[in-house]
Amino acid sequence: MTEKRKGIKRIGVFTSGGDAPGMNAAVRAVTRSAIAHKLDVVGIRRGYQGMIEGDFVKLRSSDVSGIMQLGGTFLQTARSTEFRSDEGMAKAYQQLKSQEIDAVVVIGGDGSFRGALDFSQQYDIPFVGIPGTIDNDMYGTDYTIGFDTALNTVVEAVDKIKDTASSHGRIFFVEVMGREAGQLALKAGVACGAEVILIPEIQSDEIELEKFITKGYKSKKRSGIIMVAEGDKAGGAFKLAEKVQKEHPDLDVRVSILGHMQRGGNPSAIDRVKATQLGVAAVEALLDDQKSIMVGLKDDKIVHVPMVKVVKMNRDIDNDLLNIHRTINTL
Ligand code: F6P
Repeated sequence: MTEKRKGIKRIGVFTSGGDAPGMNAAVRAVTRSAIAHKLDVVGIRRGYQGMIEGDFVKLRSSDVSGIMQLGGTFLQTARSTEFRSDEGMAKAYQQLKSQEIDAVVVIGGDGSFRGALDFSQQYDIPFVGIPGTIDNDMYGTDYTIGFDTALNTVVEAVDKIKDTASSHGRIFFVEVMGREAGQLALKAGVACGAEVILIPEIQSDEIELEKFITKGYKSKKRSGIIMVAEGDKAGGAFKLAEKVQKEHPDLDVRVSILGHMQRGGNPSAIDRVKATQLGVAAVEALLDDQKSIMVGLKDDKIVHVPMVKVVKMNRDIDNDLLNIHRTINTL
């Protein structure tokens, strides 16, 4: 066990931004590892907004019992605009001070880390981040909490859509979450055997769509799944489907938007295990005098990545995987 950092007696932990399955497992791991290091733990409800409003709850080991298998976040979450202002941050600082919180673990996406960074530039309370978003789009880590569960949710849903698509000989445009990122659409597309994958990172993918319709669907395929990331440049599944229907009136086209069901559900075993590793690593990092870093996983090993890099850089799309998909798809 790491020698305890002298200044830290009490840590705060909160979840922020879009919820993701596995966040509860991370809060549990943070709480229990902090208690193992003889630290007090305070849960901050409703993200940065709860921090501003002083919505705090003391967390004992028993308070995090029976939560790791639950989806959502029992601390709740929020996207706070007030925290972006100097006044909001000043209020949050006063609240943390009044609770004698010396260090904070934030579980969320890069927007949440941007908040932590801004705060750390003005105030002396160290923050360490844990990547939590179903988008899996964060720089410096192979994995973000919730991605694995969301991926499996999408695959299960699309398997069902495929049954009806093939029965009717239809083309389905299935839209999955990812406002700025196609990681979920790419992996789900490969896992479901989607005919075409359209993601914001790739400009040329509408050509693949046209190729599938004219060469694939019309000559040999009887149905098709077009996996569309929410943030695709063409404007999402409905717009694309409309365009395709106009250009090919003979096709039987349908749209399915999977929506927020992708964020719910019991976390997968992988999400629980990795959230646990990251939760423990975050507390260790704070005790090791780290601040303004994210704990991530690279090749299954814990890494520390400066938050400033996480918020500035994007995670690259796996081009090899995309090419594999295209090779198989064109057969
Ligand atoms: O950041 C995760 C995410 O699920 C995105 O994929 C999606 O675009 C967004 O959150 C939706 O956010 P909200 O629940 O606020 O509509």
